[in-house]
Amino acid sequence: MKNVFGNNVSITVFGESHGPAIGVVIDGLAPGLTVDTDYINKLLTLRRPSGAISTPRQEQDEFVIESGVFNGRTTGTPLCILIPNEDTRSKDYSATRNLLRPSHADYTAECKYHGYQDYRGGGHFSGRITAALVAAGGIVMPALNKKGIKIGTHIKRCAGISDIDFSDAINAEIESLYEKDFAVLDDAVKEKMTEAILTAKKDGNSVGGVLETAVTGLDSGLGEPMFDSVESVLSHALFSIPAIKGVEFGAGFAIADMTGKEANDEFCNNNGKICTVTNNAGGINGGITNGMPVIFRCAVRPTPTLGTQQNTVNIETGENTVLQSKGRHDPCIVHRARIVVDCVTALALCDILAGRYGTDWLGE
Ligand SMILES: Cc1cc2nc3c(=O)[nH]c(=O)nc-3n(C[C@H](O)[C@H](O)[C@H](O)COP(=O)(O)O)c2cc1C
Repeated sequence: MKNVFGNNVSITVFGESHGPAIGVVIDGLAPGLTVDTDYINKLLTLRRPSGAISTPRQEQDEFVIESGVFNGRTTGTPLCILIPNEDTRSKDYSATRNLLRPSHADYTAECKYHGYQDYRGGGHFSGRITAALVAAGGIVMPALNKKGIKIGTHIKRCAGISDIDFSDAINAEIESLYEKDFAVLDDAVKEKMTEAILTAKKDGNSVGGVLETAVTGLDSGLGEPMFDSVESVLSHALFSIPAIKGVEFGAGFAIADMTGKEANDEFCNNNGKICTVTNNAGGINGGITNGMPVIFRCAVRPTPTLGTQQNTVNIETGENTVLQSKGRHDPCIVHRARIVVDCVTALALCDILAGRYGTDWLGE
């Protein structure tokens, strides 16, 4: 299946950046989940472009729930959310239609769809599509929270500037992140990061970063040992987010340079709960959760569309040429992608949880 993710709780994402609408269908949802449209709006606001560090495109994200909700609760039948597109400026893209944007999906889309793709604003490959993922996340996140599962993402690094790590007060920190439009734990680094984004923008350039996510409250024993390991399922979902170029769990790639003594997470009995003293494994052993917080990081690439000239090829004539993009774009994706990571994580976890406890469990 091409645009469907999940075995038990599945999501189908559809739409193009400059088409009439984008949206999502969630299937396999538990019946009886309370649907809070204000909460969905709140999450969409955290993804929406705002201020000089984001694209000037205005996206109101006035979504419509077309099916699957009755009297404010999920019915358990497919739930469809439609988000009409607004403020499209398609003419920005017609002049450069044949000029492939380096590192965007223009060339690969052309190869796959033989020129039939809607190229305007990146079409189906636009970051715009991720609004649908956030709306879907807004349906399931409150239900996960009620089950004691909390998910939060902070900007661990942006343009080479670092935030502090999650502390022992991780649940309070997760909650605080939902109140921040720029999700850093140390508010002092916000200004430095935003300055770096603005400098890149002024230079017609862009910057990337690393998002770090913590999931608390997951039972031990979730996941499968091999192909459906928790790492595999989460990575599959996370790599679906445009611009995510790396995912690592726990100590990540740094574990390769540790000794066994440094890397091993020793066990301890903490008031009757088996815990580990460190969490280099990121809460997962053998593909299965061990009850510690699941910690992972996503590398977000610098935005491919730039305000400066780039060498490229004209796909129609085959000539080497120079591209000066006219479309509006984000000088940095990191601060907008963090809520997308939260929501995609929530949806992937729903799939895992429904596999272990059954579809209805989330609504009980
Ligand atoms: C929230 C969000 C906003 C994005 N905004 C832009 C943008 O303004 N310009 C751009 O070129 N890419 C943007 N992207 C990234 C592209 O969609 C992505 O780089 C492209 O589809 C190629 O996919 P890849 O980077 O995963 O290979 C955005 C991604 C996200 C998640």
